[in-house]
This record gives sequence, C-alpha cells and structure tokens, in this order.
Amino acid sequence: MAPKSVALAVAMLYLALPQAALSKTPAPVETPAPAPAPHYVNLADLLSLAGPYGMFLDYLTRTDVIKTFQSLANDTDGQGVTIFAPEDSAFAAVDKAALANLTDDQLQTLMLCHAMPRYYPLSAFSALAAASPVPTLAGGQCTVNITDAAGKLRVVSSWGSAKLASSVYSTPLVAVYALDGLLMPSQVFPTKPAMAPVPAPAPAPAAHAADATHDAAATTEHGAKSSSWRVGAGRVLVGYMVLMVFGLLMM
Ligand SMILES: *[C@@H]1O[C@H](CO)[C@@H](O)[C@H](O)[C@H]1NC(C)=O
Ligand SMILES: *[C@@H]1O[C@H](CO)[C@@H](O)[C@H](O)[C@H]1NC(C)=O
Ligand SMILES: *[C@@H]1O[C@H](CO)[C@@H](O)[C@H](O)[C@H]1NC(C)=O
Repeated sequence: MAPKSVALAVAMLYLALPQAALSKTPAPVETPAPAPAPHYVNLADLLSLAGPYGMFLDYLTRTDVIKTFQSLANDTDGQGVTIFAPEDSAFAAVDKAALANLTDDQLQTLMLCHAMPRYYPLSAFSALAAASPVPTLAGGQCTVNITDAAGKLRVVSSWGSAKLASSVYSTPLVAVYALDGLLMPSQVFPTKPAMAPVPAPAPAPAAHAADATHDAAATTEHGAKSSSWRVGAGRVLVGYMVLMVFGLLMM
C-alpha cells in the first residue's frame, strides 16, 4: 500500500472511530431514548457518591431499609419515593448514646421516618406544607410536617426541625433531599435526645465543606460534558491535520 493511501485510511479510521474507543471518560448518553423508560437509580451508589451521607447509608444498610427504598425506586408501576437524607453532621450533632441506645426496631422506624412513599419534586412542597402532617414510610410511628416560610423549606418532627438544605437528586420515581438535621419522632425518642457537645470553633468550615461538596456534585455532569466535548473537538482536529498531510502528499 502506498503511504498516501495509508495516511488516508488512518485519517478516515480516526474520524470514524466511536468516541468511547478513543477516550477513557465514559461517553455521556446524549441521545434520548424514543420511549424513555424510567431511569434506574441505585440508591446506595447515589448516596455514597453524592456527598456527606455515609452515616445515613450505614444505618439504612444495617436496618435493611435501603432495600425498602430501592424496591420503591425500582417499581415503575408505583408512586416512587422521596428520601430525606440527613448529612453526616446531623448524626454527629445527636448524642452518640441516644442513637446507640435504640433497638433494631426503633432504628428501623427512625430510618423509615426519613422517606415518603411517593415521588415529590421540589415544586410539590408548598402543597405538602399546606397538607401537613404528611405520612412517612414509618406510617403512624412517624408523621412529619413540612413548613414553607417564603420558600425556606423545613421538615418538622417531634423533637425539632431540619432545614431542607438542597436537592440531591430528583427525577420521576426518586427524589433525595439533604437535611441538616435528623428527624426525631417521639415514638422513637420518648424524650428529646441530648445533643452532642459542640466541638470548639470548628463547625463553620465544616458547613462550607458540605456546601462545596454539593456544588461539586452539581457540577460533575457539566464537567463531564465539557471534557467530552473537548475530546471530540480534539479528535476532529487531529483527523483534519492527518487529512491535510495527506493532501500535501498528493501535491
Ligand atoms: C432493583 O433493580 C435492580 C436492577 O434491575 C436489581 O439489581 C435490584 O436487585 C433491585 N432491587 C430491589 C430491592 O428490588
Ligand atoms: C440509654 O439507656 C439507658 C438504659 O436503658 C438509660 O439509662 C439512658 O438514659 C439512655 N441514654 C440515652 C442517652 O438515651
Ligand atoms: C404538625 O402540625 C399539626 C397541626 O398543624 C400539629 O398538631 C402537630 O403537632 C405537628 N407535628 C409536628 C411533628 O410538629
């Protein structure tokens, strides 16, 4: 084969290769499926990747409640699930003994209290506030009130209220919202649990770190998109250069 045809073949091959074969970053699925099947969400993966929800995931796993959540998320004929995920700092704020004292059943109720048996986008929350108390997966063992003070949403349980800090994930069937506090129903905690001693002046940076994590999670998708765009553009450029060399060889 002449060098010219080799160069042409290389150039053609390079342009024709699927992008995924040239780049280690997984190609984002850009083309929407014609009949969009509900997106499968692995909740354990989501919670471990999305940010500071390690303690919550730990308790969900230990009590098997993660399976209850996951089967609601999986059930495409069902109503979905809305999960209130307390950040690690919310667990750390409660006296360790108060949590360690709970029986397995009480822990399970506490975890079930952190979800509603239906998918609620953020836009549904003012209606939920008006309809409060709202049932949780713990049924009569835990109802919570949603409050909406000029758009500032809180979830109120017997022993305090937690701010809905951010939306971690929301797509029909599954919504996950971050809470800055634990929901504490009186059925699980007969008396108000003691709070952990607040460590000296450290918590402020921790709060910023949590915010930064949300931001990072929120921008990941954009980051992935733009880098794949760059890879695509780079590929076209290289292919173009090979074609130019080929053109020069022809002259
Ligand atoms: C949810 O669906 C996934 C994927 O189909 C499956 O692997 C998993 O076992 C299901 N989990 C539950 C709790 O139904
Ligand atoms: C833990 O349980 C013990 C005995 O059941 C009780 O005396 C103690 O007050 C409990 N501690 C907390 C923090 O709830
Ligand atoms: C929720 O609101 C109702 C009435 O609006 C009130 O009776 C109930 O105590 C509240 N529940 C909690 C957990 O704050």
